[in-house]
Amino acid sequence: MRNLLVLPLIIAASLFVQASDVIESLAEKKCGTCHLMGKVTKEKLNKMAAPPYWALAKKVKVAYPNRLDGIDFIINYTLNPSEDKMLFPKETKERFGVMPSQKDALTEDELRAIATYILDK
Ligand code: HEC
Repeated sequence: MRNLLVLPLIIAASLFVQASDVIESLAEKKCGTCHLMGKVTKEKLNKMAAPPYWALAKKVKVAYPNRLDGIDFIINYTLNPSEDKMLFPKETKERFGVMPSQKDALTEDELRAIATYILDK
């Protein structure tokens, strides 16, 4: 009887792990080249094109203590970035420029999953 209860739990847990792996590699592919996700190498550091994702998560969390607001902000900004919405200071723009819109790179559902991933990581 006990095994019957444990098995579904194990299956559920492994499905969850797989799903988060998928989101992790999606995030690396779509945002990681600029925001330094995945393995940090010297080469990537030298070619850094944007603030790393952990700096980004911190900025968003401070500005939007409510998690859902933070997720909405990331989605909105990624689709329609603009200088007046920027949380990062002027210096960031001077160094990296304003982020190009990622509208054509992914769906809103993918983006929601990635935004959640970035804030939780
Ligand atoms: C081509 C490079 C590039 C890609 C790809 C990219 N970004 Fe960015 N992103 C930037 C740059 C540069 C900034 C800093 C300037 C700014 O804030 O606009 C930035 C800033 C941000 C900010 C903070 C904006 C602020 O200042 O408040 C968020 C949120 C963000 N990116 C999310 C994402 C997400 C999510 C993805 C993946 C779907 C992504 N970015 C992909 C270049 C990129």
